[in-house]
Amino acid sequence: MRGDVVTMLKMKDILDEKDKRLRSISKEIEFPLSKKDKETIQEMIEFLRNSQIPELSEKYDLRPGMGLSAIQLGIAKRYFVVVDEIEPGKFETYILINPKIISNSLEKIYVEMGEGCLSVNREVEGIVPRFARVTMEGYDIEGRKIQIRAREELAICFQHELDHLNGILFIDHIDKKNPYKDKDKYRAI
Ligand code: NI
Repeated sequence: MRGDVVTMLKMKDILDEKDKRLRSISKEIEFPLSKKDKETIQEMIEFLRNSQIPELSEKYDLRPGMGLSAIQLGIAKRYFVVVDEIEPGKFETYILINPKIISNSLEKIYVEMGEGCLSVNREVEGIVPRFARVTMEGYDIEGRKIQIRAREELAICFQHELDHLNGILFIDHIDKKNPYKDKDKYRAI
C-alpha cells in the first residue's frame, strides 16, 4: 500500500569501495521477507529508476546505475535489484533473492567502455570477463522460485551484482599490471 513514507536513497547511502562491509559474504534470506527488506527493495528500485532518468539524476545528484545489491547499503543479505532501461523511459525491473547461476555460456564478453559500479566512484580501465549468457535461479519477494535468462549487458549486470553478494568488486577481476590482458579472448560489447 502506498502512503507509507518511504525514504529516498541518495548517493551518500551507498557504501564506497573503501568500506570493508562491501567485502562481507552476504547471508541467505529466509521467507517471508521482513517489512523492512521489502521497503528496502522498493527504495533500491526507485533509486535505480531515478538515476537513469536524466532530470531526476541531475535533480537528486545520482550517478546512473542499473544494479544495486543490498550490501551496498550495508545490508549483508543475498538480494539485488536490477532496473534495465529497455527503451527510452521504459524500464524492466528484476529482483533476485538468494540468487545463483545455474547455467552459463562458454563465450565471455566484456564492457568495452569499462564496467562501472555505484560503489566505485572513479573511472577504471580494463577488462572484466563475464559470461555472455547466464541463467539465474533465485526467489521473488514472495518466496516463489524464479529463473531468469539474461544475455549481453543484462547478463553482465547480474554477474556483477552476484559478485557483490560474495564480497567481490568488478575491479578485483582486472589484472593490475595489464588491464587489457587476454583482450582478444573475449568479445567486446
Ligand atoms: Ni556494483
